[in-house]
Amino acid sequence: MNLGQKKILLGLTGGIAAYKVADLCRQLVKAGAEVKVVMTKGAKAFITPLTMQALSGNPVHDDLLDPRAEAAMGHIELAKWPDLIVIAPASADFIARSTAGMADDLLATLCVATAKPIALVPAMNQQMWANKATQANMQTAATRGFHIWGPASGDQACGDVGFGRMLEPTEIAHKVDAFFNYKPLKNQKWVITAGPTVEKIDPVRYLTNRSSGKMGYSIAQAAAKLGAKVTLVSGPVALDVPSSVELVPVQSAQEMLDAVKTATEKSDVFVACAAVSDYRAKNISEQKMKKQAESGLTIELEQNPDILHWVASNQKCYSVGFAAETQNVNEYAQAKMQRKGIQMICANDVSRSDIGFGSDQNELKVFYQSENELKMKHFEPQAKVMLAEKLVEFISKIKTEN
Ligand code: C5P
Repeated sequence: MNLGQKKILLGLTGGIAAYKVADLCRQLVKAGAEVKVVMTKGAKAFITPLTMQALSGNPVHDDLLDPRAEAAMGHIELAKWPDLIVIAPASADFIARSTAGMADDLLATLCVATAKPIALVPAMNQQMWANKATQANMQTAATRGFHIWGPASGDQACGDVGFGRMLEPTEIAHKVDAFFNYKPLKNQKWVITAGPTVEKIDPVRYLTNRSSGKMGYSIAQAAAKLGAKVTLVSGPVALDVPSSVELVPVQSAQEMLDAVKTATEKSDVFVACAAVSDYRAKNISEQKMKKQAESGLTIELEQNPDILHWVASNQKCYSVGFAAETQNVNEYAQAKMQRKGIQMICANDVSRSDIGFGSDQNELKVFYQSENELKMKHFEPQAKVMLAEKLVEFISKIKTEN
């Protein structure tokens, strides 16, 4: 483990696992990190600031409105100081407050005031973890780019058994090390398409679809986190651009193709996650089309270019497609893989409302060529952000093997 020169702000909230964070602090300092500790009122009920001060070698910050602390290091300055904020243990209450953007104590305020990465290390009773509100908060945290480490499953201090245990200090320390030092995709260029396309009919109307872009954005975020240089070519969506990802915003399929042609030159991996409109209006009306009294309206459509097929036929990168199907998912996905000439396809069943389009969850069957054989890997239903991380690692592994 090498954390030399790294500045880590360690935030403790109220939970019995707080006592283990003394050991985490010691491990981080031993690995070379400079650690500053912030404690909530609840945390101080479980472990003393003096312990954390002795282990971190720095005074503990615990009060938003303490004039002395503000004079020494204001909360804004403290928010700018770290390379990484680790909140361990992160209680259900703290997760709720921080995902709601509340700033009612020093630690929550820091989370609102910082532009630095934040890792949440949840620790709570299994029932509190399973609670729908907690799960929805975790989902929000994940889509906002918080790193989520754990929880683990097992015996709990209260006597229950299940998910909610904080990761052990050594595991958390390794996550911190990996955050800074595990960059297996360094020197690789990934291009990802995401979201819907928008095909104009006239100046006010267009053809589009229900793609939210969540899967593509999560893949972009995951690849960037592992060190890849990422270009995200995206149709209009209501999502934040993940940090250190280059966004190329587009509207139509033709614009997406043009942007992809440039972006995929010298790229290593292309992931086509966008829901590209199959058709576009043959003639776009310059003026708003008027309602005609009796007759219906016929709009002549022509086919859009197939972006994925173009990349697979013209560029050298490893190409991955998505197949959104409502029936015969396996057969259609495999046929699509052959037709497009790609090495991997991720199939999902969009007829289900709990996964796929618009949902935060997804389940995938990934078909891929390996050693001249067609193989399949199943990714269980899970949050798209988590799934994306596993998928990016998987693509990288299979690409390297072939
Ligand atoms: O042909 P179909 O739309 O079912 O294929 C889906 C896959 O192909 C997705 O990966 C999608 O991003 C990609 N695609 C594309 N250009 C199109 C149509 C689909 O890149 N015109």
